[in-house]
Amino acid sequence: MLNEPTTHALFEAAREAMGFAHAPYSKFPVGAAIRAEDGKVYKGANIENLSFPQGWCAEPSAISAMVMGGARQIKEIAVIAEKLALCPPCGGCRQKIAEFASAETKVYLCDESGVQKVMTMDELLPFSFKTEL
Ligand code: THU
Repeated sequence: MLNEPTTHALFEAAREAMGFAHAPYSKFPVGAAIRAEDGKVYKGANIENLSFPQGWCAEPSAISAMVMGGARQIKEIAVIAEKLALCPPCGGCRQKIAEFASAETKVYLCDESGVQKVMTMDELLPFSFKTEL
């Protein structure tokens, strides 16, 4: 499953996105790629700022690209960081992904060679905030 062509393509898109990171302060480039319900792939990278809290992560960059592309559902998302073997989305990103995902949405944690670990959103963000029970 980790080696399925579509999964590998999503990894490659995330790796490509990482090349667009603007991370001069942390020197920690991150890339993310989403496959949405329209079958298209949307990419994003982290974009930092001299005023440090103003920067943002790769995942919301990809979410923004997806929304502006007209899609609203994250079917699967791949994340890669240059300097970390597996880069689990940070807490804030988990909530942002959850906004457009389901409990079953797959999150692929990648290294330079491909997808190394698959998790669901339910595993990454259990007992999450919901206004309807
Ligand atoms: N970063 C991401 O892009 N995604 C995450 O899920 C974790 C952290 C970025 C933010 C910052 O630009 C750099 O990694 C170091 O924290």
